[in-house]
Amino acid sequence: MQILPLSESNLKEACSVYNASVDECDNLSLDWFRFHTLDDPDFCPETTLLAVEDGRAASFAHGVRREHANGVSGFIKSFATLPEYRSRRYAKALFQVIESHLAGCGVSAVKMGCPAPRYITPGIDPRLYTPAVDFLMGRGFKYTRMAYNMDAELAGRNFCTKDAEDALKSKGIIIYRMEPEEKDLLAEFITAEGWGKNWLLEATYAMQSNPPGLFVAKKDGKIAGFAACGALRPGFFGPMGTAASMRGLGVGKILLKKCLSHMQTMGRDTCHISAVGPLRFYHKSVGAKVSRIFWEMEKPLI
Ligand SMILES: CC(C)(COP(=O)(O)OP(=O)(O)OC[C@H]1O[C@@H](n2cnc3c(N)ncnc32)[C@H](O)[C@@H]1OP(=O)(O)O)[C@@H](O)C(=O)NCCC(=O)NCCS
Repeated sequence: MQILPLSESNLKEACSVYNASVDECDNLSLDWFRFHTLDDPDFCPETTLLAVEDGRAASFAHGVRREHANGVSGFIKSFATLPEYRSRRYAKALFQVIESHLAGCGVSAVKMGCPAPRYITPGIDPRLYTPAVDFLMGRGFKYTRMAYNMDAELAGRNFCTKDAEDALKSKGIIIYRMEPEEKDLLAEFITAEGWGKNWLLEATYAMQSNPPGLFVAKKDGKIAGFAACGALRPGFFGPMGTAASMRGLGVGKILLKKCLSHMQTMGRDTCHISAVGPLRFYHKSVGAKVSRIFWEMEKPLI
């Protein structure tokens, strides 16, 4: 077995290993696979690896060292072994290299799952990937908490917000698709609300689609709320936030519906709301339902 770092030259093969090993609902196009691996701002060739046997890629694992709101941790973003190569210790070999590199960088714990700005799933789905959970437990990972996604149906629904927007206009609040030159205003807002640089990065990825999937609320020339969609891949919603001082006025509901309407226009039938915080808000505002659950898992390294 050879262990190779992921690079542009073996990216396609790694993407094939990933797609052939995971459930269809987690499949990625080559461009989105690149987005989540090589183009991750924390990409590290020592922790993004392919196990190759007789010239054929058999297993893939992607780790990063990521700064986040509570400090720095190592994360396994994804790992996958082709079905015909399972139980032959390829994933084990990749994890040994990744964990030892992270420990050498002073990272005290490695987590399964990943925070913003780029993650495929916010943990491991224990129902779809029970053998992978078993593998992680065998390596000393322990369940820490649950994360979940919610789905909102889009087909045939009306997300018109005109009346609600008119009511907010009388309070001096306007809601619209963000202009690219307002990026600094958005940065100011996200920083002031304490959401950190990873949410800002994630929100700005939503600016890259055409038209951009990023909507904002503005009051007195300042941004007071935002909602992003398409940032993590098409059909996915988040992040979003309303200024603490402006909550409960209906701003979040309008921003959310603007994104759902945008996704509808882009031809999507379902919106996946990723790594949900306020379940009741999404359920109440657009009838979203929990669609997937994930386990976050963690293993101490030092
Ligand atoms: C979640 C959030 C965006 C809601 O924004 P908001 O502008 O206050 O939402 P709205 O005023 O439009 O609320 C719409 C409805 O949801 C309800 N609601 C809002 N937040 C809620 C919450 N956290 N829990 C339960 N219900 C909530 C409102 O009461 C309102 O109900 P109504 O239609 O019966 O009046 C805001 O609380 C926030 O920014 N939270 C911190 C960031 C966050 O958690 N983002 C989501 C990441 S997945």
